[in-house]
Amino acid sequence: MRPFDGRRVLLVVSGGIAAYKSAVLARRLIEGGAAVDVILTESAERFVGRVTFEGITGRRAHMSLWDRPMAHLDLGREADVVVIAPASADLISRLAAGAADDLATTTVLAARAPVIVCPAMNTRMWEHPATHANVARLVEFGCTIAGPADGPLAEGESGPGRLLEPEQIVPAIARKLESAKGLRGRKVVATAGPTRAALDPVRFISNRSSGRMGFALAEAAWRRGGDVTLISGPGAAPRPSGPRLVEVETAREMLAALETALTDAEILLMAAAVGDFEPAAEAASKIRKTDGGLDLTLRAGPDLLMETRELRAEKRIFTLGFALETDDLIARGREKLERKGMQLVAVNSALDPDAGFESATNRITLIDRAGASEELPLAKKTELADQLLDRIEASIAAAEA
Ligand code: CTP
Repeated sequence: MRPFDGRRVLLVVSGGIAAYKSAVLARRLIEGGAAVDVILTESAERFVGRVTFEGITGRRAHMSLWDRPMAHLDLGREADVVVIAPASADLISRLAAGAADDLATTTVLAARAPVIVCPAMNTRMWEHPATHANVARLVEFGCTIAGPADGPLAEGESGPGRLLEPEQIVPAIARKLESAKGLRGRKVVATAGPTRAALDPVRFISNRSSGRMGFALAEAAWRRGGDVTLISGPGAAPRPSGPRLVEVETAREMLAALETALTDAEILLMAAAVGDFEPAAEAASKIRKTDGGLDLTLRAGPDLLMETRELRAEKRIFTLGFALETDDLIARGREKLERKGMQLVAVNSALDPDAGFESATNRITLIDRAGASEELPLAKKTELADQLLDRIEASIAAAEA
């Protein structure tokens, strides 16, 4: 079954360069099984033609209050969720005022489904107090604001104001529609990515982790209704936009962030590839090249699971950890689960070409506290994240029964 089978999404598109991304968003929703109705404001139609949306959705795209009597009431009533993307400053201000001066505003006013607003505009417009006040008003009305992202804007400027990517908007919609909301309201902490240890002001040692497994877990937990904090090391992979993001660099910074986040957590998804070693001393100035090369002395850095073991046991935090091994996978996985105080360990082989750090896929064997092991077939990290969370939800439900 696809995630949006049987669900209806009303996509409201307002004017802005980012309107082209909404066509991709519509496509993603259709691929997920949704029926998508589209309303274009008059200025949206100047950016992307209605025929484009009609071709993608296979349904008539709506523009005017006068096309079909009562369209504003039907479209709003039938939708399971309303998504406004891009939401221009103008449309946000009209919605904040409760306006009903075109098909878009009238329909949103009449709709009873959850409304997700994805703003897109120039940074200065976004930062204007008028826009802030309007957005705050929409939050008061119960709308969810998704984005904007920070980055390059169409006019050559850069800053907050970019429409989220369709890949980031889809999970926000899923969070509203998800029927299996087993993590609703649960406090989840996820870690992801590598850490760095500085040798001098310009060099560091790190590892090849992309962060993708941890990002997939954080996003899936958030989609399932979790209240998720994501602690991420550095890296270029796009972060999920839903979870609260804490960016760190070193293992010690990650430990500090983790200790803070764990104070009221119920679940820890420990996917970070924390560096095990750090230089015995960090040089204050750049280490100069010499003919004789360089001998480095490394010492062990903190082991985050060991450091938080007692806290997690005391607060009964369900902990999923990972184990990257080259040999004796199951035996080593079991040993790590015990030693590091995890409830579930996902073991993967560092020698598997389809799995691990730089791959979009992973092959893992799960081992639980009872010692049972289960081999999951090769799958995308995003799919594995859901399989892992299915098992975590089941264990928590069994423990609470
Ligand atoms: N981990 C951690 N702190 C570290 C290293 C790892 O908390 N300094 C966590 C990882 O996030 C993972 C688990 O411990 O969930 C196992 O990681 P792995 O690299 O397999 O284990 P190591 O402790 O590094 O063991 P070894 O080097 O002996 O394989």
